[in-house]
Amino acid sequence: MPRLSCWLIRSALVHLALGFTLGGLLLIHKGVPLHPALWRLLPAHIEFLLFGWTVQLVMGVGFWIFPRFQRSRGNETPAWLAFGLLNLGVWLTGVGPVVGAPALVLFAGRLAEMGAVAAFALHAWPRIKPPGVR
Ligand code: HEM
Repeated sequence: MPRLSCWLIRSALVHLALGFTLGGLLLIHKGVPLHPALWRLLPAHIEFLLFGWTVQLVMGVGFWIFPRFQRSRGNETPAWLAFGLLNLGVWLTGVGPVVGAPALVLFAGRLAEMGAVAAFALHAWPRIKPPGVR
C-alpha cells in the first residue's frame, strides 16, 4: 500500500473512532441529559464521520487502487495536498462550533474541504481510464 494511502486510511480510522465516541455521547445525552452544551458536539460528530471517515477512506483506497501508468501513480502532489486540506477542513468546520469560533473559520473550513475535493480530482482524473491506456 502506498504511503499516502496509509496516512489517509489511518486518519480515517481515527476520525471513525472520534465520530462514534461523540455519537455515543450524544445518544447517551438524549436518554440521560448530561450537559446542555453537549449538543455543540453534533457538528463535530457529523464532520468527523461524513468527511473525516467516509470521504477520507474512499480517497485512501482510491489513491491505492485506481489504474496506474506502468508503475507510476502520476502526479502525487495534489493528492497529498488533498490529504492536508481535507483534515484541516474537517477540524475547522467540526471543532469550530465546539469552541465558538466565528463563522469565518467555518467558511474557511468549507473552502479547505472543497479544495481537497478539487485537488484529489486533479490527481485522479488521468487515472480514470480503461486498462492498457497510457
Ligand atoms: C458513519 C456513521 C455516521 C454518520 C455518517 C452519522 C451522521 C449523522 C448526521 C448527519 C446526523 C445529523 C442528523 C440530523 O440532524 O437530522 C447525526 C446525528 C446523530 N448521530 Fe450520527 N452518524 C453516524 C454514526 C452514529 C453513531 C454510531 C452514533 C451513536 C453511537 C450516532 C449518534 C447520533 C446522534 C445521537 C445524533 C443526534 C440525533 C438527533 O438529532 O436527535 N451516529 N449523525
